[in-house]
Amino acid sequence: MDAEDTERLDVVELLLTAECYNAHTALDAHDLPSLIRRHYWDAKARGVPRPITVCEKDVRAIYGTPNVKEVCAKLPFIEYMEFGGQLSLTVMELALRWFIKSGGLKRIERNPSIAYHCERMRVNGTGNISYARARQAVPPLHSERVWIDALVEDVREECGEEAEEMLKLCTISAPDEIPISLEELVLTPQQHEVISKMTAALKNREYLLDIGLYDVGKMLFVGPPGTGKTSTARALSKHLALPFLEVRLSMVTNQYLGETSKNIDRLFELAKRLAPCILFIDEFDFVAKTRTSDEHAAIKRAVNTLLKAIDEISLVRHGVLLIGATNHPQLLDVAAWRRFDEVVMFSLPDEEMRRQILERIASRMRGSFEMGEVARLTEGFSGSDLRLVVREAVLSNLREGRRELTQQSLLSAIQEFSRREGVKTGVLEEVDIA
Ligand SMILES: Nc1ncnc2c1ncn2[C@@H]1O[C@H](COP(=O)(O)OP(=O)(O)OP(=O)(O)O)[C@@H](O)[C@H]1O
Ligand SMILES: [Mg+2]
Repeated sequence: MDAEDTERLDVVELLLTAECYNAHTALDAHDLPSLIRRHYWDAKARGVPRPITVCEKDVRAIYGTPNVKEVCAKLPFIEYMEFGGQLSLTVMELALRWFIKSGGLKRIERNPSIAYHCERMRVNGTGNISYARARQAVPPLHSERVWIDALVEDVREECGEEAEEMLKLCTISAPDEIPISLEELVLTPQQHEVISKMTAALKNREYLLDIGLYDVGKMLFVGPPGTGKTSTARALSKHLALPFLEVRLSMVTNQYLGETSKNIDRLFELAKRLAPCILFIDEFDFVAKTRTSDEHAAIKRAVNTLLKAIDEISLVRHGVLLIGATNHPQLLDVAAWRRFDEVVMFSLPDEEMRRQILERIASRMRGSFEMGEVARLTEGFSGSDLRLVVREAVLSNLREGRRELTQQSLLSAIQEFSRREGVKTGVLEEVDIA
């Protein structure tokens, strides 16, 4: 299929979608493919108002098609109005038949509006098309930036000044703004198992609610720096199509300790308002440190607030999947541990995992290298360290004018990295002694 074919399919799909959406009032914004939905989204109406009209500028904005008029000229069932550049279908059935014949069936499988029309009207040649399946194939409304922004707007309207206090505690990302996916990470069988459990729990929320099983959906990621805790949490947001709220507990704690408890409450309140979502609390140990008797009363209060907030939030009831991450599990007390239904270990990768991580990092790089040897020589390196080693090797090759990765450059990078780490720890030790 060449670029011109794609452009034609784009225009016709848009026109068919508009036609179906306008005609079938049972359809809502969730029934539009993401690109179209985003373009016609009306923040105030919290949806896509009818009728959708299609003009040249819309096609250009949605697909980047430069020559809309020329594309239309080749399709006899499209009418192009010179004035205003509005497009419409003269005979819809003709357009649909052309679309199906020209390879559009695959698109209908992911376009609930057209699929709905085909299913209801029993359109010839679309026997396998299912509206329900098409709807599953488009990202849910709650995962879209426009939807998240609308909810944030609600928070601003309903909470007044308090809203800014809530919003500055965390960063909020839409799933498709997340640059990493689960496929790029090398995970252990236990990690895979937990992920599939959580996916199943999320899919069956109503069932869990029915049978009264509420205490599901709180995970603690434990492991040394650079082992993929943050990356996995982010990738989960993409995988589950849930907005991602990311917070460092050190940012929630305030020099005025009284504020800390308030901030914790604010954070969980925000998560509930943006649900369904993932609330990712990094540096989890920062507040939940062992509650020793001589600690300041306000810290104790903050810890208690945090534990209580965790108790009260639930994936099943509120749609908030909670993930805590820590490098210092020894700092957490039993009361904190008990609140998580899954503790997921992120250990330093073994040789086989290191090889897989290295191969994934270098999957798009050319050259002659053998990651088995690199993996063997990098005992004790984290995933993040391996990334740095490969980067170092690539850069040193580039400096010598080569775009190919070589084994020698990788081996030198390992040496260089070990030397630098050695120096770093050496310096730290000296500081410690001083
Ligand atoms: N198992 C892994 N597979 C693939 N890449 C990994 C893995 N572990 C770490 N990485 C890579 O290392 C980098 C750092 O990982 P990440 O920030 O997720 O670590 P972390 O456990 O959150 O560290 P920290 O405790 O310092 O916050 C990322 O770029 C990630 O892609
Ligand atoms: Mg991290």
